Parts: sequence; structure tokens; C-alpha cells
Amino acid sequence: MRATRLVRNGAVLSAAAALALAGCTSAGDPSPTPTPTPAAAPDVALRDLPRAGLAVGVAVAGGGHHAAAGYPDPFGEDDAYRDVIAEQFSSVTHENQLKWEFLRPTREEFRFEGADAVIDFAEENGQQVRGHTLLWHSQNPRWLTSGTFTDEEMRALLQEHIATVVGRYKGRIVHWDVANEIFDDSGVLRTEENPFLARFGTTIVADALRWAHEADPDAVLYLNDFNVESVGPKSDAYLALATELLAAGAPLHGFGVQGHLSTQYPFPGDLETNLRRFTDLGLEVAITELDVRVPVDGAGRAEPDDVEKQVEYYGRAVDACVAVERCTSLTLWGVTDRYSWVPGFFAGEGSAMVLDEDLAVKPAFTAVADALRGPDA
Ligand code: XIL
Repeated sequence: MRATRLVRNGAVLSAAAALALAGCTSAGDPSPTPTPTPAAAPDVALRDLPRAGLAVGVAVAGGGHHAAAGYPDPFGEDDAYRDVIAEQFSSVTHENQLKWEFLRPTREEFRFEGADAVIDFAEENGQQVRGHTLLWHSQNPRWLTSGTFTDEEMRALLQEHIATVVGRYKGRIVHWDVANEIFDDSGVLRTEENPFLARFGTTIVADALRWAHEADPDAVLYLNDFNVESVGPKSDAYLALATELLAAGAPLHGFGVQGHLSTQYPFPGDLETNLRRFTDLGLEVAITELDVRVPVDGAGRAEPDDVEKQVEYYGRAVDACVAVERCTSLTLWGVTDRYSWVPGFFAGEGSAMVLDEDLAVKPAFTAVADALRGPDA
């Protein structure tokens, strides 16, 4: 595993000590009895660590699974959580508050309060904002997916949406994930699930990019997806599409690799190589939704071997972005297990974030911090 340090009260602890602190014994110890975890708040700010040009971001909780979770609105009500977001990160993304489902309860209405609040907070805390997302197959309102619209109306709906939302935040949102998850894992366009792709194919992606560019000519416009960390059919499909779009003069500027990783699968060891395929086209790249989930028991506890793997995966993912000069932002898809989307979406997996339920550091936090400092630190 990578060399990992945990800096605590000025002392540098070894990886084994860090694992023990997190309630895990080191690999090979036959008795994985958890030791009590002393709550250790982060004593470094991730946002201060990386090379110039690399923003460290987080998804800000709200909407989506949080709405049904039974706890008070994290961003509105949890001051300790807000403090962590402000202190640790130089970029924020709306976890759900800019998605159609959240923004557009009816065809006529735009509900901007949730999104505005995150952007105001970002500006107060010197953070940049990554906009997520404009064209996606998921989390769309029923009036859109079940409505009866002509092709012309559908196109006009998307154009109006993009002009309104991107226009509202002109100059305040640096990156936009314009199109999200448009290919399936075989690299086939999601024409069945995405109501816009169903009618227009990839021409609507070019249109969406143009409309976003018209609304905010300075915004950096991205395609974004999961399972595109490695070279393979899905990332190949993006490479081909990006090449085509650029040749046609579409305003495409970046490719986002989400980075939802699981220790049940091998680490995508060619991540850096794959990122470079896109920077070679002239695009910038980002890791946009990094998290590393591990198998957990009924109480949400992970085995030490999996925690070690998680530490390694976080470190290697961050290493890849740090190594690629045109990797401009690295966003964690949540920061604390208190609010993670993972347990609700991946049965038997959890503990995917870098801080635990009590906002205390896990070894993964230290791995991210170490990797952000770069290989020469
Ligand atoms: C997830 C959110 O984290 C949840 O709160 C919500 O219930 C579902 O969506 N890929 C994406 C993100 O692009 O928007 C998804 O976010 C996670 C997968």
C-alpha cells in the first residue's frame, strides 16, 4: 500500500497507526476487533495542498436521497458540516440542487433557492462552483418524461432550460457538466433512457454545448460519466464523440471522469493514461465525483483489508489527477459518511467517504491529503 501519514497534533503517524486510529487492525492481524475511534477533526485543509491550477471540490448535500433520509437538511441545518465544506474545499458542486427534478417541479416553474444558497456560500468562502448537470437521463421530472411533446417542443424545452440556468449563473459557475452519462457501459448512446437523445441523438449534445456557450461564453463545458476511468469501450465512445464535436467546432472544453470506485473491483490502473488521451485532444479533464466504497457489515463497519484498499484507491486516483497538468479539478462526491449516497444505492457497501459519521478523519482523508501534496512532498 502507498506510504500514508496521518498528521495529528504535529505528530506523523504511520499507515498502521492511522488504520488503528480508525478502529481497524493492520492487515494480517487475526483479531479484527475494532478499537474505539478517537474523534480527530482534520488538521489540514485539503484546499491548501495541491499544485496551482487544481481545485479540490466536494458535492454539497441536498435534495436527491437526502430528501427522504429523515435527517434535517444537511446544508441548511448542520453547522459542523457546513464548516467542513468551507474549510476543506476550494470548489463545490450541487449534489442535486441543479438537476431538472429539483429545479423544475413544473414546466413553468424554476425553483432556484437551493442552488442559489450553495453559490452564495461558495462566493463567501472563496470557492469556485461546478455546475451539475443539464442533459441527463436520470432525475428528470415526470412532466418532462411522461409529457407529450413534439420534437420541436422538446428541443425548445432544453434550449430554454440551458439558457435560463446557465444564463442565471453567468460568471459564477466555472465548469458545467453539460451532458452527463450519455453512453452505457458498452459505449452505446443511451437513446432509450434519455428523452433528448431518444429523439435527436448526439446532435442534441452539440446543441446543448452551443446553447450553454451562448449563455456563458466563459464557462468551461464538459462531458461527464462513470466507468470511464479506464481505456475501454465506454471511454473510447467519448473519445470518438469528443473528436467529432471538436472537428465540428462545438464548444467542448473538458472531459469529466466521475470516479465512483469500489474495492470489489480492481483499481483502474490506466487512469492517468486515459486522462491523457483526452488532454491530447486539447481538452482539460477532471475527476468529478470521487468516492471509494467498501463492503460493510450490518453496522456499516468495514474489514481492515478493505480499508487499506480504500486508502490505496483514493491515493492513486488523486495521484493521477495531480500528475496530469490539465486536470483542473478533483471533486469528492460527499465528504462524510453521515450523508453519503452510497449505502442507499449499493447494497452491502458503504463507508465510502474520507470523514466518518462524526466528521472525524479516516485513513482515506490522509491518503487524499498526501496525494494532493504531490510526489515531491
Ligand atoms: C446522486 C446523488 O448523490 C444522490 O443524492 C441522488 O439521490 C442520486 O444521484 N452520478 C451522478 C450524480 O452524476 O449526479 C449522482 O448523484 C451519482 C452518480
